[in-house]
Amino acid sequence: MFEGKSIVLGVTGSISAYKAVDIASKLTQGGAVVEVIMTEAAAEFVAPLSFQSITHRPVHTAMFAPVTDFDIEHVALAERADVLVIAPATANTIARLAVGLADDLFSCTVLSTRAPVIIAPAMDVGMYQNSVTRENLERLRSRGHIIVGPAYGRLASGLEGMGRLVEVGEILAAIHQVLGRGGDLAGRRLVISAGGTQEPIDPVRYIGNYSSGKMGYALAEAARNRGGEVTLITAPAAIPPPLGVEVIQVQTATQMRQAVIEKAAGADALIMAAAVADYRPEVAAEKKIKRRPGRLSIELTRTPDILGEVSGGLIKVGFAAESEEIVENATRKLRDKGLDFIVANDITSADSGFAVDTNRVIIIDRNGKVDRLPLMLKSEVADKILDRVAGLLAGK
Ligand code: PMT
Repeated sequence: MFEGKSIVLGVTGSISAYKAVDIASKLTQGGAVVEVIMTEAAAEFVAPLSFQSITHRPVHTAMFAPVTDFDIEHVALAERADVLVIAPATANTIARLAVGLADDLFSCTVLSTRAPVIIAPAMDVGMYQNSVTRENLERLRSRGHIIVGPAYGRLASGLEGMGRLVEVGEILAAIHQVLGRGGDLAGRRLVISAGGTQEPIDPVRYIGNYSSGKMGYALAEAARNRGGEVTLITAPAAIPPPLGVEVIQVQTATQMRQAVIEKAAGADALIMAAAVADYRPEVAAEKKIKRRPGRLSIELTRTPDILGEVSGGLIKVGFAAESEEIVENATRKLRDKGLDFIVANDITSADSGFAVDTNRVIIIDRNGKVDRLPLMLKSEVADKILDRVAGLLAGK
C-alpha cells in the first residue's frame, strides 16, 4: 500500500510514543521506506532500537551531536520524504514548529522539508485547551500542515479529555490521503454503496442478506488511496468503515435511495456494491408479531431500483450477485439499469461473494466485452474496478 514511498516519522516525547512503533511497523509492512527521527525526550519513552528493529534502518537522533553536524544527509532526509509524519507531537514540539525553531535534527528536518507534513498532537487536556497551543496549531494548519486529532479519552495524567493521540488507523488514513493526492482519482467525487439493507417486518425482525460490507468498503478505501473524494453510503455491515471517507449510515433500501440520489448529484461516479433488498414488507408492524397457531403471510412490495433511477452523466457501475447464468443475468441488469459496466459475482463458491475476503468476478462492459478475473482479494478486485472507472473518467 505504501510501496516505494519514503516516509519520515518524527517521534517526540510523549507517553504515547510507543504507538509510533506500531505506525512504523504498519508503514514498513506496507512497503514504505521509513526513516525515524526521535527527539531526545522521545528516546526517554521508547528505545531507538525498537524503531531500528522494525524499520531495518538506523534511527536518526543526533541527540548528542552538535548543531553543526546537521549535514547534507539530514537535509537529504527532508528532501527525499514523500510525507513527513509527526506522531506523537507534544505541545512543546508544536510550539517549536509554530515559531520555526531549528535547533535539533528533528526541527531542522521539518523546517527544511517540502513534503506534506502530518501532525498528530498528544498532550494533557490543559495544555491542549490553552489558547497558546490552539494558536500554534492554527498557525501550522494555515501553513498547510495537516492536523490529525487529538482524540478524547483518558490521559496519562488520569484526567479525561481532549489530548489523546488518535488511533493508529486514523494516522495511516491521513497518510494514505496525502499520498493519494497525485492518484488517478484525485479531484474526483465517488459515491460507493455497501452492506446489506434491512427491511423491517416488526420492531425486532427484518428481511436482510449476508452482505458484510467488505467489497464496498474495500472499494471506498482503494478510491480514497487513489485520491478520490469518497462518500460511502452503507447499510449495516460486519466491519468498521474505512477512515478518511464520508460515511452515511442507512438501514433500508428507501433510505439508501434517498442518500444515493442526494449524493450522486454532482458526483463523477457511482458504484453500487450494496446488496439492496428487492422487496420489503408492505407494512412494518408497529408491535412485535406474536407467535400464533397456523401460517403467517407477509405481503411484500418492490423496492425502488436505485441504480436504474440515477442519471446525470456520471459513471454508473453495478454489481450482480448471481448463482446461475451469471453473464446473461448480469448483462440484462447492465442494460436495464443503463450502466457503464457491471461486476458479476459468482456466489456459488465458498471463497467468493458474500462475507469472505476474496472474490471472483466477471466484468462486463456496455459493448458486451466480458473480462473474467481470477480469484483475488477484495482489495485487489476494488483496484481492478477503479482502474476502469479512472480510465472512463479520463476519457470523458
Ligand atoms: O458485502 P460483502 O460481504 O463483501 O459481499 C459483496 C456482495 C456480494 C454483496 C457484492 O459483491 C455484490 O455482489 N453486490 C450486489 C448484490 C446484488 O445482489 O445485487 P443485485 O443483483 O440484486 O442488484 C444489481 C445492482 O443493482 C447492484 O449494484 C445493486 O446494488 C443495485 N440495486 C439493487 C436493488 C435495488 N433496489 N436497487 C439497486 O440499485
